[in-house]
Amino acid sequence: MKGIILAGGTGTRLLPLTSVLSKQLLPVYDRPMIFYPLNTLIQAGIRDILIIISPDYSGNYLNLLGSMFHGHGVNISFVVQKRPSGLPEAFILGEDFLDGGSSTLILGDNIFEDDFSEAIGSFVSGGRVFAKEVPDPERYGVVEFDEATGKVLSIEEKPSQPKSNFAIPGIYIYDGKATERAKAVKPSERGELEIVDMHRAYLERGELDVRTITGEYFDAGTHDSLLKASVCVKEKDFRSRFHPIVNEAIAEFNAESKRLLSLQK
Ligand code: TTP
Repeated sequence: MKGIILAGGTGTRLLPLTSVLSKQLLPVYDRPMIFYPLNTLIQAGIRDILIIISPDYSGNYLNLLGSMFHGHGVNISFVVQKRPSGLPEAFILGEDFLDGGSSTLILGDNIFEDDFSEAIGSFVSGGRVFAKEVPDPERYGVVEFDEATGKVLSIEEKPSQPKSNFAIPGIYIYDGKATERAKAVKPSERGELEIVDMHRAYLERGELDVRTITGEYFDAGTHDSLLKASVCVKEKDFRSRFHPIVNEAIAEFNAESKRLLSLQK
């Protein structure tokens, strides 16, 4: 199982914060946002991770993460997405990286409290998405599913009359057919490949299942959700619950940065 983090995009809802900085490098309390999805993957046992970035900020990502995990058993690679053409493009840009294997795709601005080790570790084939109960499902992709079997019955994008209160958050597990199916997705009216069409490609073949999650979840793409995420991360002390690999790599990076700064003085 490999991991992909989508850290491109335009971040227009967070302007002017995102006018000179990538959204996924903005602080969520005491860490750049990207460390949260990175931790989610590492915590789940994934050690081979591709980060999709936009051309404007590629240098920043390389400076921060290019060698941070060397010596920690985590391989990080990067691919540049020339323009944000939609989430399924991750599987096309990642075709060589995936090499026909399964992957977990996570959005670079999604922050989860849940541990996905079991859901990822037990994955065999098909597709697996998650469902989080929310008070305002009409803002999300909404999934209706059989609670006994986990089989998905329907998926609707931002429905005016949602069939359930379960939103699909930005973490998706797909088998090796993901690239081929992403290539078959046609751009929507807004000119993007839509992730809901990937879900449907698996659903139509009876290959999609869903697991509910109950922990805190933030899509930190708006000013309010970014603030709420920071407050929650501080109050619930996410830092102490990060995987030791991530905390050690950050501590070493900080020590090395301080050492290099002291040499310049
Ligand atoms: P969004 O939040 O849907 O888009 P955005 O980041 O461009 O923000 P806005 O709508 O405010 O302009 O994207 C979800 C995540 O996926 C986010 O981390 C950015 C990333 N992304 C890509 O990496 N490539 C893409 O083509 C798209 C659409 C999103």
